[in-house]
Amino acid sequence: MISRRKFLKYVPTIILTTKYKSVFANNNNIINYKITAKKSSFSFKENTQTNLSLYNNINPGPLLKAKIGDILRVNFTNNLEEPTSIHWHGIKNLNKMDGVPYLTQDPIQPGESFIYEFPLNHSGTYWYHAHFNSWKQVAKGLYGPLVITNNKENIFDHDLVILADDWRLNKNFEIDEQSFGSLMDWSHAGRIGNWLTINGKKSPQFQIKQNSFIRLRFINASNARVLKFSSSLKNVRIIAVDGISIKPFYQESFTLAPGQRIDISFHSKDLSEVNFFEVTQKKSLKVFQLKTYGSNPNTYNKRFDFNSEYNPPSLVNAKTLKIHMQGGAMGNLASAKINGIEKDFRSLAMEEKKLWAFNREIGSYEKSLLQIKRNEILVIDLWNDTRWPHSMHLHGHHFFVKSKEFKNVNDYLLRDTYLMQAGEKTKLIVVADNPGKWLFHCHMLEHATSGMVAYIEVI
Ligand code: C2O
Ligand code: CU
Repeated sequence: MISRRKFLKYVPTIILTTKYKSVFANNNNIINYKITAKKSSFSFKENTQTNLSLYNNINPGPLLKAKIGDILRVNFTNNLEEPTSIHWHGIKNLNKMDGVPYLTQDPIQPGESFIYEFPLNHSGTYWYHAHFNSWKQVAKGLYGPLVITNNKENIFDHDLVILADDWRLNKNFEIDEQSFGSLMDWSHAGRIGNWLTINGKKSPQFQIKQNSFIRLRFINASNARVLKFSSSLKNVRIIAVDGISIKPFYQESFTLAPGQRIDISFHSKDLSEVNFFEVTQKKSLKVFQLKTYGSNPNTYNKRFDFNSEYNPPSLVNAKTLKIHMQGGAMGNLASAKINGIEKDFRSLAMEEKKLWAFNREIGSYEKSLLQIKRNEILVIDLWNDTRWPHSMHLHGHHFFVKSKEFKNVNDYLLRDTYLMQAGEKTKLIVVADNPGKWLFHCHMLEHATSGMVAYIEVI
């Protein structure tokens, strides 16, 4: 915990007044933000109201924006009635700023403040979210986008965050409180909702210039729903995956699992509108629209290529960590150990609310998987031996993975969250160069809380 002395010394420069406004410090490129978590009322539909938990009373939380090389400093206050913490998803962070309660910091108690302060050494699309009872706090809206820019990439006329969330609402358009903690959800796909928002709104419209160059930064903040997007354009160019710029490739549609990000770019040409759809259901759902205005000169020849070339490291001296993932409904987990005691699946479910295991052990934030020396190469050899997909996330590092998530792409991608299909086997290759204790878990948040979580320690 931060000392009282350090806290008193911290004087916020300006008080935040409007939504997306940043507070710039003395020009030593420390980017200051003030974030408060608090119970807030929110309206999903005209003439309806519900109680959410939000950052700065808005959904999504404030867009945090900084440049590569800056220091991000967030003065956070918890005005909720329960403890919380913030995790900076995808950031190669200082371990003590990673926001995992009990593992990297004490939970931030109601009324307490905590200053998150860390350097931003890579650019891209990230997000931040609550990591205390995240299955509930994230479902109630405690998250926001974090965009780290890089001057080389400032060639777009429009650069927009498209943050998607899948909410479960009752018929009064209130958050469905009753179903929180449902074992049915936890043992199946997780908490699947019935109301999809983009930046907190149903089917919003964005204004863009005609003949303009556009970058869209998609983030999936859903607890459990895997989304798939397509558009009225024939193809979109995928330019970054989980924050990392890649050698671009074209896709008609792309999948986005909980926690994942994908950046795309395209030129609006002479079109008057571009529509985006979510296409996992029988009937595709129009999720947002870009509407063009003005008559801009054609700038289509504006080219860009800022792909970073990267290759996985040699595996000659790599360490391997095998993880056999089991559990859930219709699975084959007969029994597993919890705190050293073997229990059958039924008792685990009924007595402990635990349903998922790595190597027949129920995980937690304090369960260690392995210790590895700094700069060693780690291969996480995963087998999803369950009947469900899982969106596997590692804190503090990106990993190389031969992704099967895109059509006709059979290449290594650097991701921090990888969607594994039921039965899939895959290897995540990690250059373990960031010291500390790093959580590895399923980002279907109900799966994580019921056992699909543990940590790796880099010493
Ligand atoms: Cu975005 Cu531990 O998670
Ligand atoms: Cu899962």
